[in-house]
Amino acid sequence: MQNRKNSDAIYTRLSGVMPGGVSSPVRACLEHQMTPLVVSRAEGAYLFDVDDNQYLDYCMSWGALIHGHAHPVVIEAALTRLREGSSFGCTTPYEEALASKVISHMPACEKVRFVSSGTEATMSAIRLARGFTGRSGIIKFQGAYHGHADAFLVQAGSGSLGLNGTSTSLGIPKEHIQWTACLPYNDIQAFDQYVKQHAASIACVIVEPIATNMGLVPPKEGFLHTLRQRTKEIGALLIFDEVVTGFRVGLGGAAAYYGITPDLICLGKIIGGGMPCACFGGRAEIMNALAPLGEVYQAGTLSGNPVAVGAGFTAISLAERPHFYEELERKTASLVMPIQEYLQKKSIPACMQHRASLCTLFFGKTHICHAEDTMSLDRTMFKKFFRYMFERGVYIPPGQQEVWAISAAHTQEDIERTREVILAFLQEVYL
Ligand SMILES: Cc1ncc(COP(=O)(O)O)c(C=O)c1O
Repeated sequence: MQNRKNSDAIYTRLSGVMPGGVSSPVRACLEHQMTPLVVSRAEGAYLFDVDDNQYLDYCMSWGALIHGHAHPVVIEAALTRLREGSSFGCTTPYEEALASKVISHMPACEKVRFVSSGTEATMSAIRLARGFTGRSGIIKFQGAYHGHADAFLVQAGSGSLGLNGTSTSLGIPKEHIQWTACLPYNDIQAFDQYVKQHAASIACVIVEPIATNMGLVPPKEGFLHTLRQRTKEIGALLIFDEVVTGFRVGLGGAAAYYGITPDLICLGKIIGGGMPCACFGGRAEIMNALAPLGEVYQAGTLSGNPVAVGAGFTAISLAERPHFYEELERKTASLVMPIQEYLQKKSIPACMQHRASLCTLFFGKTHICHAEDTMSLDRTMFKKFFRYMFERGVYIPPGQQEVWAISAAHTQEDIERTREVILAFLQEVYL
């Protein structure tokens, strides 16, 4: 058991001055009924809390840190920019450098617009899609998270198509979600059926090409291709939300991974190198509908911030090293495969799913294909697991339906230690 006295005291004070003591809800670890991590610093694959306990980190700032924490080259790039001014409210050459890099890796993007968060990227992308097509309807998928803008916070009724379903948050007038259809992920039939009935009103389909917000759920064969084909047929735009998968599953993101060219791509997390930077991009004819050229309004005081852009440019440059992604995939497989094999061999009701350097260990199900599968997960077992890992100095994302992110800073030794701790847990609880 770690000594967490300082963490407890500081979190108590935080809770007095901030709702739940946090700036973003999942950080509070409410379901675990414990003081969440109160971090003072981080380095490589490790987080250090205010009591100087050390944790091997598989959250990695929710996937943003593909090179690990405080990578010296990324830090230096940010510091170089910072010394020359942190924000100008004017355009800079550094934006051209990062924009050109994105465009060179992602052929779907002929132009990009920088924003400061994934939420801004997705929110702006659907406004652009609506402005460009002159239609209002959007389709998203159950279990996806596209940030916290009104139009995305729609929860589908279990087992139904959940069309124009109820909001998952108070404070969202029903008029704001009346154009949001929420369909089951990986269900081509449900998608086809909806599109047939509503073709003329659909502005766009927004999808996490690899679902990462119900835990890691890869697309079924043909699913993404169907989205591409149908949207083309009905004159709607296909938006890949690659806030997590962009520069994570490869330099070309999930679009290249699956060989699909969407109309718009949203990027965040890795593109900021750990700083607040995100963007959305697509064909020039669509992007030119944005102000100041077009009439779709979108803006931001800190958009294209030089410090964030500098850090992001450097993070992507580091990922361009030969075999960077192959090495990450190999490491991830060496964590996931032995565990998955063990689960199958022992017929344990759990599974570990992964793509590239993202993975999730699900308890209570041997396969997860869409959000409905996650309804019957064994959350009690997950809670036990999270606590077991935490007490052994391994920090995984605190939710059962979150992805773990492996970084270049995780050593083979780190991976092996993690694997042993997980296997020890499985042996203990599924004797
Ligand atoms: C797929 C996806 N899209 C959008 C977002 C929103 O990004 P942000 O938290 O930067 O607003 C997230 C956040 O985790 C995400 O996972």
